[in-house]
Amino acid sequence: MMLHVPEVLSAPQVQQLRRALDATEWVDGRETVGDQGAKVKRNRQLPEQSPVSQELGRLVLAALARHPLFFSAALPLHYVPPLFNRYEGGEHYGLHIDGSVRRVPGTGAQLRTDLSCTLFLCEPEEYEGGELEVVDTYGVHEVKLPAGDLILYPSTSLHRVTPVMRGARVCSFFWLQSMVRDNHQRGMLFELDQSIQKLRARLGETDETVALTGHYHNLLRLWSEI
Ligand code: NI
Repeated sequence: MMLHVPEVLSAPQVQQLRRALDATEWVDGRETVGDQGAKVKRNRQLPEQSPVSQELGRLVLAALARHPLFFSAALPLHYVPPLFNRYEGGEHYGLHIDGSVRRVPGTGAQLRTDLSCTLFLCEPEEYEGGELEVVDTYGVHEVKLPAGDLILYPSTSLHRVTPVMRGARVCSFFWLQSMVRDNHQRGMLFELDQSIQKLRARLGETDETVALTGHYHNLLRLWSEI
């Protein structure tokens, strides 16, 4: 399941991040990929361990913690701290798959990448090209979202970023391990949760909404790995 999560960051928060990103130094994006990715990756990133990257990453994760739609869809357990990238002057990232297991920098921890996230930090009209293209069995999905919005997609998908031919594309990107490993099970829980929320908004709390909430939690108990 791919999901557009709107308004993760407010306009002032986006501006705060953009100012900090404009004032700092970027390095070659090939530093954080293996051999296969390095052949097709042409962009720049903030160094993983830089204080700016870590501080802005914390801000992104704090915003996500306050976003019920994101939580409902992702059921996050562990995150790789958010990274930041920039594409301009024809830079791009060819078709690739994200690594299945990633080390959390500065710790001994590793996590399984169940979901990939791209948080857009500039408006679509600020640059030409730079679409995120995610390939699945239904074909190619082209993604270019307003500043502050996020796309959540399964890390099992092949994807690419098309060349940026005008302006600059600035995003945050990161991975998470979900409490529910299976995309189909996680998608079913998301649909059930969203339907329960709509029923509660329409009818108030009823014996049926309480019973359905019980089913939701019992399925989560059955399927979650913590
Ligand atoms: Ni990728």
